Amino acid sequence: MTRVLFLCLGNICRSPTAEAVLRRMAEEAGHDLAIDSCGTGDWHKGEPPDRRAIAAAARRGYDLTPLRARQLTPEDFTRFDLILAMDRSNLRGAEARRPDGAGARVELFLSLIDEKGPGAKSMDVPDPWYTGDFDGTLDLIETGCRALIRRLAQPAQ
Ligand code: 4NP
Repeated sequence: MTRVLFLCLGNICRSPTAEAVLRRMAEEAGHDLAIDSCGTGDWHKGEPPDRRAIAAAARRGYDLTPLRARQLTPEDFTRFDLILAMDRSNLRGAEARRPDGAGARVELFLSLIDEKGPGAKSMDVPDPWYTGDFDGTLDLIETGCRALIRRLAQPAQ
């Protein structure tokens, strides 16, 4: 089983949305994944996702209401195989907190949709907390999760 952790800043907009989207796509594709999400910040610890994120997700049939925000912990670097950061700032935040020797791979989420692969020109998922564009966020997250499902279907390299 692959263990995937989505990471954003507050864990109330982008990463909980990605958690719900990937959970549904994995179910539909028959992949046995462990999926969770968290934030680099702790301001919203214990809170449900932003109501605008809940509403946008609900319009596409995803239920974010059971999710509660939490902060990235040192243990996450051993509990998960893959930590997918929503933007480069989150990626740097995660790498700065990696305990020595902990094995999780940390990648920029949207590097998955770049055909040249990780390390090539990659994009951030803009933060809808600031942009207000929750539908555009969902579009990007659905595209990224589809790419992840395709990658998981390929033989391990
Ligand atoms: P997220 O959005 O990282 O996609 O969950 C944010 C939510 C809250 C804050 C920042 C980003 N905040 O500063 O409280």
